Amino acid sequence: MTFKPYPHARGDGSLGDGLAMLRARVARRIALGPYSRRVSIGFGRNLSVAIEPPVAKIPVRLRDFRPDDLAALFPSGGDEAAKRERDDVEWRLRAAAHGVLPSRCYVLEEVRSGRPCHVQWLTDPGYGDAVRRSGALPVLAADEAMLENAFTPKGFRGLGAMAAAVYLIAERARSLGKGHLVAFVDADNAASLKAVERAGFRPCSIRTRRQFAFGTFRTVRFEPRAGAVGRGARATPRDEGYGAHPGDGIQSEVDAREAEPPDAD
Ligand SMILES: CC(C)(COP(=O)(O)OP(=O)(O)OC[C@H]1O[C@@H](n2cnc3c(N)ncnc32)[C@H](O)[C@@H]1OP(=O)(O)O)[C@@H](O)C(=O)NCCC(=O)NCCS
Repeated sequence: MTFKPYPHARGDGSLGDGLAMLRARVARRIALGPYSRRVSIGFGRNLSVAIEPPVAKIPVRLRDFRPDDLAALFPSGGDEAAKRERDDVEWRLRAAAHGVLPSRCYVLEEVRSGRPCHVQWLTDPGYGDAVRRSGALPVLAADEAMLENAFTPKGFRGLGAMAAAVYLIAERARSLGKGHLVAFVDADNAASLKAVERAGFRPCSIRTRRQFAFGTFRTVRFEPRAGAVGRGARATPRDEGYGAHPGDGIQSEVDAREAEPPDAD
């Protein structure tokens, strides 16, 4: 739910060569502005603890993504946000096929019509350092996976599709041998916050990303959330810009100047 790759990035995560890359970087930096700050809440769920399944207001089922889902999820004439999401999905499909993103794409479909009503990704450990740093992602343990990039087309919003999808993807993860799931949700995204909580996730950390001088300097800070339990609760707050926090599976801070990101969300 956190990684927004640069839409024109190639499947291997790079921005391309020569002038195209330069243009892309300049546009990205201008869009960032002189300073910005983005706060996300880190959520976790222990899959050995059963929860009451959230019920959507329409009958739904989960399945793997199919190429014809793209047009149904993102019909032509959609708004800018939907176009960006489509770019994300296309980038992720290329990156997954290329092997740099160990991520699976799931679609929730409405049973009656068969129409896709939600798309979301489950990412395994093993993504490359460039991807991890650019998305400010944690290092995942072998039995962990991460939910990312949830999207519900406008006509299906508010029907409980995201909550149902998060729950059903967690069940898939369990059947794949996972014991713990994590997700990062922007602190101002009320619908997503509610959906992951309905699907049994509990807040355990706060991630603050800052950038200065049009992206020249970036910092990422992870802090535990008061009252958090479970793995995420082991993180401790640190000053920004240095080092990693061993043992909690989450890199506590990254000086993102180390990596030129393929994205810049
Ligand atoms: C965020 C998003 C995926 C939510 O999808 P959804 O299928 O509508 O979510 P749900 O129907 O499961 O809604 C979850 C809860 O949030 C509520 N909700 C929905 N939209 C809301 C809004 N704008 N403000 C506050 N609450 C909202 C729902 O009523 C529901 O609460 P309830 O269970 O008490 O009824 C969808 O709005 C979307 O695609 N947004 C654009 C992309 C995005 O922000 N992705 C998330 C990245 S983390």
